[in-house]
Amino acid sequence: MPKLSANMTNFIASASSVPVLRGLWREYGSSMTYARPIVYQDEPLRALQGFVDDYFRGGGLRSALDAGCGYTLPLDFSRDVHLVGLDASPEALAKNENIDQGIVGDIETYPLEADAYDLILCWTVLEHLTRPGGAIANMAHGLRPGGLLVIGIPNIWSLKGLLTKFTPHRFHVWVYRRFLGWENAGKPGFGPYPTYLRREIASDRLERFSRTLELERVYAKTYEIELGLPKPVAVVWTIATTLLRIVTLGRWNAAASDHVAVFKKSSAGSGA
Ligand SMILES: C[S@@+](CC[C@H](N)C(=O)[O-])C[C@H]1O[C@@H](n2cnc3c(N)ncnc32)[C@H](O)[C@@H]1O
Repeated sequence: MPKLSANMTNFIASASSVPVLRGLWREYGSSMTYARPIVYQDEPLRALQGFVDDYFRGGGLRSALDAGCGYTLPLDFSRDVHLVGLDASPEALAKNENIDQGIVGDIETYPLEADAYDLILCWTVLEHLTRPGGAIANMAHGLRPGGLLVIGIPNIWSLKGLLTKFTPHRFHVWVYRRFLGWENAGKPGFGPYPTYLRREIASDRLERFSRTLELERVYAKTYEIELGLPKPVAVVWTIATTLLRIVTLGRWNAAASDHVAVFKKSSAGSGA
């Protein structure tokens, strides 16, 4: 068992009221050590970490932006990297112990310096934006040629994605409080955030749009995550997604709720 930093111990203590984080910690966290204090990773995220680490193995990762950083990280960054966090919520930013510098701002409009970052991470943020294309263009502008844009989004065409898209925000808040045990759900600085899940962030459209910004997709994975639902609900969920898979003859994996894609900025291009 690795020695835990005080921050990590505090995080786990506070996470104990959040079943999904508690589950992730039980399953994955206990065998991991991270450079940053509040990182959570399941297997798909560890694979992503491996890809990013390999890409920058020869060096070249000195500055990174976590756009819509909230207060937890899906990727770990060595302490040598200058990690800037940008978030529209000052409350979320105030809780962030990972970053070296914080900016309160809107990722769609904040004037990012051109070619400034070696890596930009935008994890579970684009689904909350009414104009995700504007944010992607802004991030392409802030990324240096040869740098990586790492995007994590819900799979809009999963059962969870469709239910989220076509139900109101107050229903999402109720689900988080009732089934996930998030007492503070919906309060400033706490999820769930209003979700729009625009079609332009479906993986194929995202890939096409990125090409117009001189971004080449170099990594993509659609996968299932542990939803942290209570047992009876989880059983119903599994039955529903399995039936949907059977009746569509395996063509629809309704349980594949999440998508990650990594884009490399063309060495010649300067983005938006
Ligand atoms: C679901 S949380 C994800 C937080 C973090 N990336 C993570 O993976 O834990 C979404 C975050 O995006 C932020 N956000 C929403 N709209 C934003 C915008 N237009 N500009 C910047 N941040 C935004 C929210 O305040 C929130 O912290």
